[in-house]
Amino acid sequence: MQEPGFGSVGLPCRTMVEREAIVATLVEDRTALAFREFFRNPLAVGSAFPASHFLVDAMLGPVDWSRMERVIEYGPGTGIFTRALLDRLPGHARLLAIDTSPAFIGHLRGEMRDRRLVAVTGSADGVLEIMAAQGWDRADCILSGLPFSTLAPERAERLMEASACALRPEGKFLAYQMRRAVKPLLERRFEEVRVGFEWRNLPPCHLYWASGPG
Ligand SMILES: C[S@@+](CC[C@H](N)C(=O)[O-])C[C@H]1O[C@@H](n2cnc3c(N)ncnc32)[C@H](O)[C@@H]1O
Repeated sequence: MQEPGFGSVGLPCRTMVEREAIVATLVEDRTALAFREFFRNPLAVGSAFPASHFLVDAMLGPVDWSRMERVIEYGPGTGIFTRALLDRLPGHARLLAIDTSPAFIGHLRGEMRDRRLVAVTGSADGVLEIMAAQGWDRADCILSGLPFSTLAPERAERLMEASACALRPEGKFLAYQMRRAVKPLLERRFEEVRVGFEWRNLPPCHLYWASGPG
């Protein structure tokens, strides 16, 4: 039975906790969340602006998502790419979104009720352990929004090594970046690295499509 005032969102309100969660979701503004998280931790978040649809289309457009079964997203933030991935992935696929910010993960869980999505608070450094906890062996693709330029070089190397191990031999690693820090890391671990650039984003981004993890 719905209570007055909540009917317009079409969600049943059984408990105070549910009601508060719905109100929080309604009043939460994605851009405000992105700004808040950026000012809380600028090095980890990298940009205060969520990705533009130009960036999303440029990054995801060249990839055939119809055969992907296991996809991982590093740094989903407010979920612009997460939503676009779910729109493209088949019904039996699974998407594992990993972000260090509990606020972003809470937002994704509240906003996206899609049984294909598992949103986990954690660091991409622990991708192999996080996958194992989900019963995953290897992934078809990793999409990364991580600001690699703010990571210590040894940590960035280890993260890329774990990522290459997490992928099937024909797997892909996609990345969008303000700077080019991820390029040499990809070139050391993958057989092929294609590059692109998208101006229509704040800030403009370098794009990378790597395949053939070594
Ligand atoms: C540039 S934002 C990308 C946000 C979002 N994907 C977008 O396009 O709007 C980088 C994201 O990476 C997350 N992040 C930073 N370091 C991380 C790490 N080691 N593991 C997982 N997520 C991380 C941040 O919390 C933030 O959500």
